[in-house]
Amino acid sequence: MTENVDKNNKIGFCDSGVGGLTVYSKFRKLLDTEDCIFFGDLKNSPYGDKTKEQLVGYSRNVFDFFKSKGVKAVVMACNTTSASTYPVIKHEYDFKIYPIIQSCAKIIADLSIKKLGIFATSSTINSGVYESEIHKYNSNMEIFSQACPEWVRIVESNSSAKQENIDIIKKDLDKMMKHNPEKIILGCTHYPYLIDVLSQYAPKDMFIDPSQFFVEFIKNDLEKSDLLNSKNSKGTEEFYVSANPDAFKKASKMFYKTDNVQLLNLEKIKTV
Ligand code: DGL
Repeated sequence: MTENVDKNNKIGFCDSGVGGLTVYSKFRKLLDTEDCIFFGDLKNSPYGDKTKEQLVGYSRNVFDFFKSKGVKAVVMACNTTSASTYPVIKHEYDFKIYPIIQSCAKIIADLSIKKLGIFATSSTINSGVYESEIHKYNSNMEIFSQACPEWVRIVESNSSAKQENIDIIKKDLDKMMKHNPEKIILGCTHYPYLIDVLSQYAPKDMFIDPSQFFVEFIKNDLEKSDLLNSKNSKGTEEFYVSANPDAFKKASKMFYKTDNVQLLNLEKIKTV
């Protein structure tokens, strides 16, 4: 992190698609004077079934784009890249990077419970990063991890009301409930879109969306680092996707209204 970052520079937010908006919407509520750029990598979505090498390549493309925009920080509003690519690329850029899992692990570890469930993508679950990060702070917490490989597709296609998709979600939930977890972390930023289905079969307050912890962590850290924007007016917003802007607008509705979504081919971006 360089010393002379301008605090009035923009903040980047990235995910494979609409999932990142569950974080972004809470961030805007907390800090609406920041200028923000959101990038949804729909061309490569879903991330959860990709290899680490593929994910590192996607992250570098997105981060090079943010670098070309002169950002002061990037929010990895994606558990999958926080688990697999953050450890690889964290020293490659001069701006601050906030990965969701590592930023929230201590807060989750401090929850006064003994048995915790985690729903996440296959890539996140296979990485074991949730367990290792939480156990750094609380080695007594028993963690039950479960991959939900179909859920991102269901969210991006805006089809959680279809019976066949409800059956898929219920089947994954039933498997988890056999372990009797006290709380279940929605360890993929897409999963809060499914809370209405999940809460038909288990108490709503059993599910934890870590994005509220995450945005508070980011705000505190920006404050500590003297990086909060000094403006008093509302911050600007830019939304970009690498494919399907119309599908993005449609699926995003539940969390954030995104009118002006621009299609961007990252391969054409040159780093400055
Ligand atoms: N929303 C992302 C996450 O938190 C990525 C999901 C995906 O594309 O598979 O993991």
